[in-house]
Amino acid sequence: MYNILVSDGLQEKAINNLLNLGFNVTDKHYDKDELGEALKEYDALVIRSATKVTRDVLKAAKDGKLKLVVRAGVGVDNIDVIAASEFGITVRNTPNSSSDSVAELALAHMFAVARFVGTSNYTMRNGEWNKKKYEGVELSGKTLGIIGMGRIGKALANKATALGMKIVYNDAFGKVNDIEYEFLELNQLLSVSDFISLHVPYDKNAGSLIGKDELKIMKDGSYLINCARGKVVDEEALLEALDSGKIAGAGIDVFEVEPNTNEALVNHPRVSCTPHIGASTMEAQERIGDEVVSVIKEFFN
Ligand code: MLT
Repeated sequence: MYNILVSDGLQEKAINNLLNLGFNVTDKHYDKDELGEALKEYDALVIRSATKVTRDVLKAAKDGKLKLVVRAGVGVDNIDVIAASEFGITVRNTPNSSSDSVAELALAHMFAVARFVGTSNYTMRNGEWNKKKYEGVELSGKTLGIIGMGRIGKALANKATALGMKIVYNDAFGKVNDIEYEFLELNQLLSVSDFISLHVPYDKNAGSLIGKDELKIMKDGSYLINCARGKVVDEEALLEALDSGKIAGAGIDVFEVEPNTNEALVNHPRVSCTPHIGASTMEAQERIGDEVVSVIKEFFN
């Protein structure tokens, strides 16, 4: 029988489903120095974002049983996929499960920065009544530039359209065939959008997608939302743009370093922040659990 290591937790229902299918499941988080050696005894590893499956970990595991690493989530940036493929280990993710949850969080941040929702919460708790100070803007009628028109980008576009926003988008793969929204080159999108929401992976060879130069091109007083990966945005450049007023607000769920260490950024009065909770809804976690089970079942069949 196959042994599965669940390293960062998984929905109870999914664990029970795996057990019912006859898999041996161990729910345990190993230290990074012990993980590779421990993995020799497991046929599959299931992780979220906490476990880092580095080349060293895979190298230590490579002569054992390990055949499959499943990322319970979308981004596989915590797995060295090149090393995995060199060692004949398959890497899979669950791309179908969290789109609505992430898209809703991006919208939540848009509302938060447009209407000072987060800032009002903490200033009121400090006894302040900033009614005059917090004159915001409506989302309705504004142009939303979506960078990365995959599943999450499309879910966000549909929801934002219902709110009366105009959608433009850019995607590294060019124009997407099955959608009617307007495709723009990156710099054009940056210059016309009132809100920009990022839904792309981090490309460590290319570096941050939104840095000083891109922020300069963005419309004065526009808003930036990042629910993708922290390093997609250069945080220092963003802070400067927020301080100068060039960028009116930023909604940030993901950080260059996680747990976050950039206190200036999260304490900025024009920043709405959350601790990487894009996929953290009951619904998404249940779907992710189901998708993990089908990936494992299909693989070992
Ligand atoms: C993902 O890649 O699916 C998200 O960032 C969610 C997560 O890591 O928990």
